[in-house]
Amino acid sequence: MKFFVDSADLEKIAYLNDIGLVDGVTTNPSIIAKSGRDFIEVIKEICDMVEGPVSAEVTAMKADDMIAEGRHLRKVASNVCVKLPLTMDGLKACKVLSSEGTPVNVTLCFSANQALLAAKAGATFISPFIGRLDDIGLDGLELIEEIRTIYDNYGFETEILAASIRSVGHIKECALIGADVITSPPDVIAKLSEHVLTQKGLDAFMKDWEKTGQKIL
Ligand code: E4P
Repeated sequence: MKFFVDSADLEKIAYLNDIGLVDGVTTNPSIIAKSGRDFIEVIKEICDMVEGPVSAEVTAMKADDMIAEGRHLRKVASNVCVKLPLTMDGLKACKVLSSEGTPVNVTLCFSANQALLAAKAGATFISPFIGRLDDIGLDGLELIEEIRTIYDNYGFETEILAASIRSVGHIKECALIGADVITSPPDVIAKLSEHVLTQKGLDAFMKDWEKTGQKIL
């Protein structure tokens, strides 16, 4: 399973990237607003740092304008992946841009039927939002399962990019279901390393080591 970081925080992306935990990055207009940075500039910097796809989202509403924005974003760096909303206009832009060889991430997916349309329109990635479904009392992980089944039934190559991740539990369940990619806030990725028994064991080892009075270096 690939790990994408859902952030425009260069420092946090670099930290995880140095450990080999970053296969790509996703952003959205809210993430860009939170960064306080110029959109194109920050996307370029992330693209320079990370080898994998970096999703940059269009903000136009009409297909023709989305296509123009997508073509513009694609010129920023060779690893830009154009992010489009799951609307009929977004799907039309997806078909055109993906036919030109541009990787496309179709975002704001909340149903299996929407995911089916994105695959038929040639999306490289479909982004179902788990956390936002959980927020309204639905089961985000069930959606990932449904999409996995549908894509496998018909051999669609669109990758399931599980988004709106809120917890380490979400990541484990996505891996068990067989999501191709998760995109997560950097802090949740770092949390995957934590276990109470790891810390307890380490504390005990260090205490005993101190008693030996030895040093390795
Ligand atoms: C995905 O590409 C989105 O940027 C993201 O996962 C949204 O997550 P949120 O629901 O926590 O804002």
